[in-house]
Amino acid sequence: MASNIHFKQVDSSAHIDQILALQALNHSSVLAADLASQQGFLTVRHDPALLSRMNAAYPSVIAQCGDELAGYCLVMPPSFAVDIPVLAPMFALLETLSWQEEPLSSLRWFVMGQVCVAEAYRGQGVFDGMYAQLRAVCRADFDLVVTEIALRNTRSLRAHERVGFQTMHRYFDPLNGEDWAVVGMAL
Ligand SMILES: CC(C)(COP(=O)(O)OP(=O)(O)OC[C@H]1O[C@@H](n2cnc3c(N)ncnc32)[C@H](O)[C@@H]1OP(=O)(O)O)[C@@H](O)C(=O)NCCC(=O)NCCS
Repeated sequence: MASNIHFKQVDSSAHIDQILALQALNHSSVLAADLASQQGFLTVRHDPALLSRMNAAYPSVIAQCGDELAGYCLVMPPSFAVDIPVLAPMFALLETLSWQEEPLSSLRWFVMGQVCVAEAYRGQGVFDGMYAQLRAVCRADFDLVVTEIALRNTRSLRAHERVGFQTMHRYFDPLNGEDWAVVGMAL
């Protein structure tokens, strides 16, 4: 990995602006289909005020190269389920799932709300570095991180598998026409 990348938690409104800008560049609506299938894509756009509140509740992890944002990995505690209607079915589903035979309801878990590495920094360990940082900052408060990944986002599935995520559940969502894998990793 480039030695000038460092990992930290969000601590300014400028970081929120940078996250939103990187998110916009990687949203499925602006990516050609072949690029999305090779490089991955995002499906949710966050409202700036909500993203600020999420980061005030629990600061997300970012990777920086100088002043540039190389990547982000969002922390979304379950209390935010009500704030993002498009994610409500996912939170409802999570309440019914188990991790290694323990119901999620008996564990301290949060949703990794979205991960993105800026194109120029992909394939350089930024993804792994952000999850190492996420583990370090969240393990005192949580047992498990869960997220869901579109099955056609094969790059993201592979990267999550590599850092230790395991598939907990798969389902088809008729609202967006996607097959999803719900994946989890003990912290
Ligand atoms: C998904 C993303 C965060 C991964 O970060 P990254 O730096 O690109 O990941 P890495 O290069 O470390 O790892 C990617 C892995 O997938 C593999 N890969 C690359 N392209 C692939 C593809 N089209 N299909 C399957 N695997 C692929 C790589 O070989 C690597 O696996 P390996 O370590 O076994 O060789 C980043 O590509 C990204 O931000 N994409 C756009 C947004 C996105 O999809 N976010 C995730 C939403 S769930």
